[in-house]
Amino acid sequence: MRGVSLLIGGLVLTFLMTLTIAVGAQSPAAGPDPKKVKNPVAASAASVTAGAAAYKKYCAFCHGPAAAGEGPLAPKDSHPPNLTDAKWDHGGTDGEIFALIQNGAGGTSVMKGFKGKMPDTDMWNVVNFLRSLGAKKTS
Ligand code: HEC
Repeated sequence: MRGVSLLIGGLVLTFLMTLTIAVGAQSPAAGPDPKKVKNPVAASAASVTAGAAAYKKYCAFCHGPAAAGEGPLAPKDSHPPNLTDAKWDHGGTDGEIFALIQNGAGGTSVMKGFKGKMPDTDMWNVVNFLRSLGAKKTS
């Protein structure tokens, strides 16, 4: 009897440990809530200028040279949105815009993530650049 309960105890312990590892492994992948992520790059003139350069290189052909939407080379029927207004389909805090640039809009969207294609600092610079054009924050 004693052997059996020890065995069961061992199994329960193993199960609990596996569960802890599984849950622990999951949280970093989920990452912090983008809404709560603060912009680590001050909106200095240098940051806005760097953001404008990155925008021109990577984003303008789709979102338009003035970021008003519908750039000249946007894929047919993709309708890249205006990035200077107060309408944000994917959230309008600095952290949410950053996360969208990093990960893309998901699914079959032509808006792909730029993770690994440009440094994180440049993504924040682009956020600062869009704000300088009048892009409104939403919470
Ligand atoms: C190939 C075309 C294309 C390129 C290149 C592109 N985008 Fe997009 N972008 C889109 C489209 C289309 C959407 C709409 C996606 C959706 O809502 O499903 C979008 C959506 C977005 C959104 C979300 C807007 C909202 O209303 O929430 C942001 C922010 C954004 N893009 C920023 C950028 C930035 C910054 C770059 C350059 C680093 C960039 N995009 C490059 C096509 C593009």
